[in-house]
Amino acid sequence: MKKHYKTIKFVFASALFGLVLTSFTSCGKKDVNSPGVEFMPDMYRSPSLEYYGIHTVDGDTLNSAKKPVEGTVSRGYIPYVYSNTPEGYEQAGLNLHNPYASQKEAFEKDGEVLYGKFCVHCHGAAGAGDGKVAGKLPGPPPAYNGALKNLPEGKIFHSITYGKNSMGSHASQLTQEERWKLVFYVQKLQGPKETASDSTKVEAAVTPSVAAKH
Ligand code: HEC
Repeated sequence: MKKHYKTIKFVFASALFGLVLTSFTSCGKKDVNSPGVEFMPDMYRSPSLEYYGIHTVDGDTLNSAKKPVEGTVSRGYIPYVYSNTPEGYEQAGLNLHNPYASQKEAFEKDGEVLYGKFCVHCHGAAGAGDGKVAGKLPGPPPAYNGALKNLPEGKIFHSITYGKNSMGSHASQLTQEERWKLVFYVQKLQGPKETASDSTKVEAAVTPSVAAKH
């Protein structure tokens, strides 16, 4: 009899415990979306901040997508100061020089590789303006060792950066360093620059024929 009494006591105790447990889990019955009692709310509700959100921390409103401080540039970015105007073009021709002059040899080699990827289809392998696409353009590119023979390095860089007529800008495809590499290679294709006495000779040679036409 005593044994039976013990069993009944155990059953009652278990039922009571179960009841208490259910009362905990069924607390949120009123709101179907409620998760019920949260024993450790921090674990459920992460305090992490979302990217690009506006947050209030200690009374300060923080906008994580803030603009950079005025007058600053991102690391590694070199601003290009010459404007995309005829004046900017002339100024670049006078004042802009290749900052990698000491690395000419290695840069010229890299320039050749870049030229094969970005320029050869219009300008042709020797820079004569006879690339495969050249004929489809309204005006084919002039030869580097012809009309462009004396084009200064600053203007070459400027035109690669902003483009010129049918030639598009290459600024988004090539870093400044890569554009300077190309300048070295274009200069190689230009060949040695004409000296002042050479151009006088050319003028002298042209003048009589022009005069003859008139
Ligand atoms: C879509 C064809 C095309 C591509 C690609 C192209 N060019 Fe040109 N390029 C031209 C044409 C056309 C001109 C002549 C523009 C004019 O003066 O009307 C020109 C002109 C130039 C000039 C002379 C600019 C001046 O100031 O007179 C240089 C230098 C030059 N290109 C270099 C390059 C280099 C380097 C590349 C490769 C990164 C390149 N081009 C890619 C078509 C192209």
